[in-house]
Amino acid sequence: MNRPALFLFSLLFSLISIPSIMAQNTANYDESKVPDLILPDPFVSFKGKSIQTIQDWESIRRPEILQLFKENVYGKIPTDFDAITFKEVTESQNPYPDKAILKEVDITVSRNGNTHTMRLNVFLPKSGKGPFPVFMLIDYKPKDPSEKLVEDDFWTVSELIDRGYATASFHGETVSPDDKIRFSEGVIGNLYPEHLAQADGMRTLGAWGWGAMRAMDYFVHESSIDEKRAVLVGHSRAGKAALWASANDTRWAVTIPNESGCGGAALSKRKFGETVQVINTSFPHWFNDNFKAFNGKEELLPLDQHMMVSLIAPRAIYFSSAREDRWADPKGEYLSMQLGSRVFSEIFGKAVSFPTAFESLKGPVLQPFAGYHIREGEHNLTWEDWSHYVDFVELQFK
Ligand code: GCU
Repeated sequence: MNRPALFLFSLLFSLISIPSIMAQNTANYDESKVPDLILPDPFVSFKGKSIQTIQDWESIRRPEILQLFKENVYGKIPTDFDAITFKEVTESQNPYPDKAILKEVDITVSRNGNTHTMRLNVFLPKSGKGPFPVFMLIDYKPKDPSEKLVEDDFWTVSELIDRGYATASFHGETVSPDDKIRFSEGVIGNLYPEHLAQADGMRTLGAWGWGAMRAMDYFVHESSIDEKRAVLVGHSRAGKAALWASANDTRWAVTIPNESGCGGAALSKRKFGETVQVINTSFPHWFNDNFKAFNGKEELLPLDQHMMVSLIAPRAIYFSSAREDRWADPKGEYLSMQLGSRVFSEIFGKAVSFPTAFESLKGPVLQPFAGYHIREGEHNLTWEDWSHYVDFVELQFK
């Protein structure tokens, strides 16, 4: 190409590519630019039937909504395997020898002659009488799981033990690496390789959800833990995984995604902060392939995240946000809880309500079945968040 032609070509190329790159990378933080919300109705079936009873909910509408999320967003979580074993190992030093017993457990699952092993770390209170209720955290920090057993401010083991809870955590990397190239070098490639060719197959966040289910299998097996009082917590990307895990596995009594944002608690159709296109571009391995069809086209999604709340009901659910975490759209997280939690009153006859407008919220909303808080500060999981979770959970388990 001669120089003028090359110049013309690169000018044309930049005119075409700059706006599309900008569309991918610029987030809207202007509330006046949020489109009018037209959300799918959780209470009307595919055939147009109005859903009002628990029976219709359980047999018609809930399975429809679960299927919508499987197909269009997260992918299936397989439940079949041949065997599961739990083996205690001793690798790390217990950071809290005075108050807690540490169990490091290798969970090995086999299917079709192949195996996959993930590591679960469990702390049990030394004082008090079990079986103990448990807080289970899906973790992904630090990036290398062998670096540190407990992230002090992030997984507040000591405080949870003081409040009388067992607590457990597994690191996402030990189930599916959080990497767009290597994500299948874990349970997906080892046990369920057929999913890789499926547009609605399991990807990283679904695999972390699968890991949470295997942790629950361990709680059922371990007599010092009360699996009927199990709370699933995840921050941010792991909050998205926690929601999907609990939608699929109704053994979790309480589900708490913290600042889980796009593809988690926040309504996608608001297109505020992180969008579907942005998340699918940066993290193509998180959601299934079908989700990419909604890049820049959130209005075409046949669902929105308030319907995740309805999938968890009648079990307890709590969302939390941070004021400066606009990327995760705190208002979209609250609205999703406000709208989705209608399922508690309208279908299950439980008095749950979020009458307050987001802008005038003061302090945490704590009530049986559904709660919310927004704290000051940035994107993170802190003891301030955990302490509200404990207060909420105490309301559910009393
Ligand atoms: C990125 C990503 C978010 C995610 C967050 C996290 O910011 O865009 O969707 O929630 O990482 O996991 O901390």
